[in-house]
Amino acid sequence: MDGTLTILGIESSCDDTGAAVLRHAPGERGLILSNVVASQTALHRDYGGVVPEIAARAHVEKLDIVTVEALRQAGLGLDAIDGIAVTSGPGLIGGVMAGVMFAKGLAVARGLPLLGVNHLAGHALTPRLTDDPGFPYLMLLVSGGHCQFLRVEGPDSFARLGGTIDDAPGEAFDKVAQALSLPQPGGPSVERCAFDGAPCIPLPRPLLDREGCDMSFSGLKTAVLRARDAALQDGALPRQARADLCASFQAAMAAILSEKARRAIALAGPVTTLAVAGGVAANTAIRAGLDGVAKAAGLPFVAPPLSLCTDNAAMIAWAGIERFRMGHRDGMDLAARPRWPLDPDAAPMLGSGRKGAKA
Ligand code: KG4
Ligand code: ZN
Repeated sequence: MDGTLTILGIESSCDDTGAAVLRHAPGERGLILSNVVASQTALHRDYGGVVPEIAARAHVEKLDIVTVEALRQAGLGLDAIDGIAVTSGPGLIGGVMAGVMFAKGLAVARGLPLLGVNHLAGHALTPRLTDDPGFPYLMLLVSGGHCQFLRVEGPDSFARLGGTIDDAPGEAFDKVAQALSLPQPGGPSVERCAFDGAPCIPLPRPLLDREGCDMSFSGLKTAVLRARDAALQDGALPRQARADLCASFQAAMAAILSEKARRAIALAGPVTTLAVAGGVAANTAIRAGLDGVAKAAGLPFVAPPLSLCTDNAAMIAWAGIERFRMGHRDGMDLAARPRWPLDPDAAPMLGSGRKGAKA
């Protein structure tokens, strides 16, 4: 054996059912042999958010299908798999349980090692799969359910430097889109609409007056609602006002995240890289802002491709490989955890995101 590992990853903590197969030889980059995601967006569209019971049932229905498809695309059978990595938290508990039970069943049936992976660790370790930055690096995890700055010190060592005290940025994008009658998911539609507007509407930049890199987004969202009401003409929002509101909101988001990233770099001590992950990292203005902050600090900036920024099982398989190499294994007592902060020493975050508990 040359130490090459082939790991099956399973993800079901929110509204995407994922299965992926990754291969890794020591000293080389990880190789994604397959990365299959079944999205539940259409199932939840009418409810304005993810309905946990619907999500859990859909995961149960899709887990075996995505796994068979991931193995098929990889051209492998289960006999070629060295271990099974599964998201065991944090997230919507019904979905996490469905994934953990499925992975346990496969592990027992095939006599394979089982690895429970923290979903947030999956996001935070993704840059190691794509660009292999050395430890420690600074990570901004920014999605519909999470927003935090982490100093990533090792595959299971994370220091949280700050995070949102209320909404996650993706949640704010989605709510702003809803308020402006734009389609969900809100991030891409707000970004598209902002293209035709100018950031000319003054909006607050909450918590910029406070030290450190904690953030707040719910006041910004409320300010957009007020500005929308002020711009109504005969009860309708003019097209240009909508575009200007989107551009102004997006500019405020990019400014807050950039300024807080600058402070996080100062707080983090020596780091090799500034990295970003999560669905909101798809936003061009936000990426550009962070890139500028990294350049000014003399750091490389790493933003994984979108398919690896949003929820996926390749990141879980990769985190599983890192854990496997550290000697970690889990037993049949592996528990599904709705909350599971990456940094056990950090003060608990406030609030609970639309897509599940913030950790
Ligand atoms: O990471 P993700 O797929 O799921 C979790 O939240 O875990 O992130 C989804 C979030 C949604 O709120 C979506 O509106 C936001 O990412 N998003 C964006 C963009 N694309 C997706 N936000 C801003 N700009 C975008 N281009
Ligand atoms: Zn996620």
